[in-house]
Amino acid sequence: MNKLVRKAVFPAGGLGTRFLPATKVIPKEMLALVDKPIIQYGVEEAIASGIEHIIIITGRGKGTMEDHFDHSFELDATLERRGKHELLAVSRNVATLARISYVRQKEPLGLGHAVLCAKEFVGDEPFAVLLPDDVIDAEPPCLKQMIDVFEEKGGSVLATQTVEGPAISAYGVLAGAQDPDNPRIYNCTGMVEKPRFADAPSSQAIIGRYVLTPRVFALLEQTRPGAGGEIQLTDGIKALLKEEKVFGYTFEGKRFDAGDKFGMLQATVEFALKRPEFGAKFRAYLKGLPL
Ligand code: G1P
Repeated sequence: MNKLVRKAVFPAGGLGTRFLPATKVIPKEMLALVDKPIIQYGVEEAIASGIEHIIIITGRGKGTMEDHFDHSFELDATLERRGKHELLAVSRNVATLARISYVRQKEPLGLGHAVLCAKEFVGDEPFAVLLPDDVIDAEPPCLKQMIDVFEEKGGSVLATQTVEGPAISAYGVLAGAQDPDNPRIYNCTGMVEKPRFADAPSSQAIIGRYVLTPRVFALLEQTRPGAGGEIQLTDGIKALLKEEKVFGYTFEGKRFDAGDKFGMLQATVEFALKRPEFGAKFRAYLKGLPL
């Protein structure tokens, strides 16, 4: 088995009902965070983490993602004619960011099923999964931190963060003990998808970044529908845990749930404040609001 993590899967077939009405026509992955679609943050994170090939799992009505990561001849020609070289570079850069393949998930059978759709493209090598809703501001990039843990530990790695209280029920939740040498690493002993608060095995929520061994594909093929009647990635990884070591990793950085209206508002404010071209102006504007 090739041990390098070279490929990343982006499940992007979901309906985005949490963001209606904006997502009635526009894929949630294409909602703009400041000035970039949220999926582009994930793609840039993957590239900055050493990923060479991206596989986006799409569905009905998601065609604008393919257009976004492609050349736009009319736009580029117009920008060139008008001498708008900076904007032309921005447009061209998006089209040349990465080698991207698309696989259509024909039925919304769940996240585990979406990942399984990438099986032929990934083959027999470890791979990453990035859920585009989860935008993570981190340096080094969250996925890079996880690939380092994967290489050190030699087992699949799931990103986690502490979520206190009933909010934990919105996540996959990890059971396990902290590694005595590195408190950011959990030696995983179990996991459960969207448990009731009372049944949650810990406060360690799984966040949308995974580095997985290819064995998970065969296990996902056997995974029956679980929480919400869907084939869950968490259940496939739980089966993997019976055969291989799996680790939780509390990444350094801040995660935003940009697929949620409030999470998107938080991300918008924080990412805008960091932008050199208008961060200072935006800070002054916020300070002037009668809050
Ligand atoms: C998915 C996973 C869940 C994970 C979450 C992170 O849930 O199934 O285990 O905790 O992403 O964002 P979803 O948010 O798609 O319901």
